Amino acid sequence: MIRDQWYAVMTSDEVRRGKPLGVVRLGEKLVFWRNDSGELFCLRDACIHRGASLSGGECCGNEVICPFHGFHFDGNGKVTQIPANGKKAKTPERFRAKAYSVREKFGMIFLWWGNSEPNPIDPPFFENLDNTFSGSTSKHPWNVHYSRAVENQLDLVHLPYVHRNSIGRGNRTLVNGPVQVLRDNQIQFWVYNDVDRGQSPLKADQLPAPDVNRQHIHFIFPNIWQNWISPEFRIFVAFAPVDDANTVIYMRTCQKFVTFPGLKHIVNGLNRLFSIKVLKEDESVVCSQIPIASSLKMDEKLIPGDLPIITYRRMREDMKNSARDQADIPA
Ligand code: FES
Ligand SMILES: [Fe+2]
Repeated sequence: MIRDQWYAVMTSDEVRRGKPLGVVRLGEKLVFWRNDSGELFCLRDACIHRGASLSGGECCGNEVICPFHGFHFDGNGKVTQIPANGKKAKTPERFRAKAYSVREKFGMIFLWWGNSEPNPIDPPFFENLDNTFSGSTSKHPWNVHYSRAVENQLDLVHLPYVHRNSIGRGNRTLVNGPVQVLRDNQIQFWVYNDVDRGQSPLKADQLPAPDVNRQHIHFIFPNIWQNWISPEFRIFVAFAPVDDANTVIYMRTCQKFVTFPGLKHIVNGLNRLFSIKVLKEDESVVCSQIPIASSLKMDEKLIPGDLPIITYRRMREDMKNSARDQADIPA
C-alpha cells in the first residue's frame, strides 16, 4: 500500500445512522459510524482497553460505546467515559484509539491512510463527474491484491481475449501506441487496437494527439478509475484494498443522457448488468495471476502494449519511496 494517500474504501450508504459498521480495509480493522446529522467518523476497530471490536457496540451521538466494558470514544478517538471509574472520573489523555480522517465524495467514502495530516485536504477526483449523473453502484469482492485489480483496468492487450464476446469483439489483437498522458498522480490513455493484417503496430507519435474529449481511460492514484466514454457517459470503479489478498471493487455506470424517470431506471439497470458481465469476464483470469500482488521489479516479461501497466508500477513505486523518505525525516 502507498502511504499518505486518500483511498476510496466503500460507498457512503454502507454506513447507516445509528449502527456502527466494522470492515477490514488496508489490512486494518476499522469501525465507521455516523452521528444524528450524518457526520461520519472512523476509528481503529479495537478497543484500547482490552481489544474488543467497537463495531459490536452502539453509537450515541458523536460517540461509539464499546460492548465489553462500556468505554465511550469520541470521533477523535479520545475516551470520554470509563463507566467502571464513575461518572465524575477524568479519563487519561493517553486513552485514545487511532482515528482516521474521512471524506465523502460521489457517494464514496475516502480514508486518509498515512502518518501525516491529509494532504491534499480533500481526495483528488475526476473533473465533471458528479451527482448530476445517475446510476447505482455494484460491489464485487475479489481474491486478489488491489494492484492486480487496478492493472486489469489499465490492460489494453487482454480485450480481444477476455472480452471477445463483449467489449473486445472484432479480433482487434494488434495494440497501436498506446498514447498516454501523465499528470500529477494520474494516468490517462487512449486505445487504438486494430485487426492484425500483417502491419506493424503504430507508435504513439503516429496516432492522434491525446484528446480528453475522446473516449479514454483515466486513473487517479491510489485507487479510482473511470472509462470516459462521453461527456454524459462514464464507468467509474474504485478498488478498495481489504488486505494483501483481497479487494472490494465498487463499480458504477454513470449517465446523464436519459433523465426521464421510468426510462432512466431501465437504461441504468441495463448498463449495470452489462458492466457486471464484463467485470465477471475479468475476475477468474485476474484472480489466477501469481504472484497475487504486482511490483515494479518482478519476473514478468512485459511488451510495448503494457505501457500503462509499466507506468502504473513506476509511479506506484516512486510514490511508495517518497512516502517512505518523508517518514524518515525527523519531525
Ligand atoms: S474492551 Fe472495550 S471497554 Fe473493555
Ligand atoms: Fe477487462
